[in-house]
Amino acid sequence: MPSRTDGLDPGVVVEVRQAIEGGSVVAFTGAGVSAESGVPTFRGPGGLWRNHRPEDLATPGAFARDPELVWEWYRWRRSLVARCQPNAAHLALATRATDGSRLTVVTQNVDGLHTQATRAVAGDGRVERASPLELHGSLFRDRCTACTYQEERVPSAAVDADGAGGDPHSGPLPVCPSCGHMLRPDVVWFGEALSRSTLDAAFEAAATADVCLVIGTSGVVFPAAQIPMITHERGGTVIDVNPTTTALRSVARYHIVGTAAEVVPALLDAGWEHPVA
Ligand code: OAD
Repeated sequence: MPSRTDGLDPGVVVEVRQAIEGGSVVAFTGAGVSAESGVPTFRGPGGLWRNHRPEDLATPGAFARDPELVWEWYRWRRSLVARCQPNAAHLALATRATDGSRLTVVTQNVDGLHTQATRAVAGDGRVERASPLELHGSLFRDRCTACTYQEERVPSAAVDADGAGGDPHSGPLPVCPSCGHMLRPDVVWFGEALSRSTLDAAFEAAATADVCLVIGTSGVVFPAAQIPMITHERGGTVIDVNPTTTALRSVARYHIVGTAAEVVPALLDAGWEHPVA
């Protein structure tokens, strides 16, 4: 069983900070890291999968049957996420990912908030080197269903383009400027493979990490959920930050009960809110 700490127990924070400062860290994040930015999670109270069926909205079959419905849902999510800003957890992680610390962010999220945070703390020039590994793709990137064309936009431009036909959620479907076939959101749907190169880079970061800092994920979607397991199998320390217990309790050495924006800045001592003396 992991050692459970209610909030920021100073003894545990010091121990965790020492582990983080002394070694390399993989930060593995899920929807909970963005909850305090206003992005809904999937499985908790108010979660997207409580009111929507993934098989109707997030599978290749759903898109083949009803591309209008699938696009409407993704356009709605884009417009929601475009209004959200990175929170203190994204900013603390971005600070450590760009300040020379050995920290790699691996995220299951498609909201782009880790990338936005990296831009905010380090500027465009360093985003490339400290890019979060986005295992499940990006809400703000489209790709062609037939050729290799891809198109990435900043959130506000993506929402403007979605609304160019009049209705922001159900206007004409976007087509590829290169070959004329339909575009689709560049996110990983159920039943689809993740990008091999992104997954390999994430597994490598997990295998070489001294600490896997798991933040805001239920840890039930594979292969992403293997990441903390890999760090654990290689002898690293897994720290789970979550208001509730998760499927990762068997591999977590510490379960810090609290929210991402409260706990992560204090753990990383990155100068954002709630420093622990
Ligand atoms: P879930 O919705 O399954 O889990 C979110 C987790 O965040 C839960 O364990 C919550 O307790 C926790 N949480 C809620 N608020 C929090 C806060 N303020 N701070 C920290 N934690 C908080 O989301 P994921 O685990 O990310 O896949 O879901 C994994 C994948 O399932 C997603 O990437 C998506 C989904 O289907 C695809 O779209 C392919």
